Amino acid sequence: MHTKTILITGAARGIGRGCAEYFLERGWNVAAMDISEISESDRLAVFRGDVSREDDAAAAVKFALERFGRLDALINNAGLAQPSYGPPETLPLEQWNRVIAVNLTGVFLMSRQAAPALRAARGAIINIASTRALMSEPNSEAYAASKGGVVALTHALALSLGPEVRVNCISPGWVETTPDAQRSEADRRQHPAGRIGVPRDIAAAAEYLIGAEFVTGQNLVVDGGMTKKMIYV
Ligand SMILES: NC(=O)c1ccc[n+]([C@@H]2O[C@H](COP(=O)([O-])OP(=O)(O)OC[C@H]3O[C@@H](n4cnc5c(N)ncnc54)[C@H](O)[C@@H]3O)[C@@H](O)[C@H]2O)c1
Repeated sequence: MHTKTILITGAARGIGRGCAEYFLERGWNVAAMDISEISESDRLAVFRGDVSREDDAAAAVKFALERFGRLDALINNAGLAQPSYGPPETLPLEQWNRVIAVNLTGVFLMSRQAAPALRAARGAIINIASTRALMSEPNSEAYAASKGGVVALTHALALSLGPEVRVNCISPGWVETTPDAQRSEADRRQHPAGRIGVPRDIAAAAEYLIGAEFVTGQNLVVDGGMTKKMIYV
């Protein structure tokens, strides 16, 4: 069993929680950061904080280093997922600013605070973007812009932090985060891969990117093929 450490933001539920469980199973030490409560367990240390606050970002990295002595990987997962605040004409500016602050600025703050420790460990950053960086439904301007920003921030950071630190992002499609949610057969079958995604699909992609030594600055789309599907009627 190795003693590598990964810091995962937004790990109280959903994709972040799935990633925490996945890396714990593989023997990693996991430092979990969230604004919500999480229970600690063996090799899982929990820091309560907000990724959009730089003092919290700095404290989370310090906490992970104090608990585990090193930092090998960071998954910037925390996000306000698909907030729907109505049409752009009436979207309150404070809601736009909050989505950008958490989904985009939070990735920047966590990454730069973790950079020295990740450089020392020759580690990796995985940012969780979204297929909404590439395609849209109406009334999703703040979310789409924040995730497009994450894709661009990813290649910028890959250049600035390399070669010591590789930086990639994952763009999930539809990932079911409510285990007992009832989904129709049509929901499943519309995916070229034949099913809706689960958090472990994203965790497995993160594991691949952490180990992929010749891959940096990339956006790996993990969406069951949905963004490759021609939909003209
Ligand atoms: N579920 C999907 O289908 C899907 C698809 C594409 C992208 N994503 C992205 O994946 C990530 C996780 O999505 P999810 O569906 O698991 O969401 P979720 O809402 O289930 O979980 C998000 C977690 O982030 C935490 N969080 C929110 N704001 C925070 C902050 N300021 N600081 C620290 N923690 C904070 C929440 O408390 C929560 O535990 C998000 O970035 C989301 O945009 C999700």
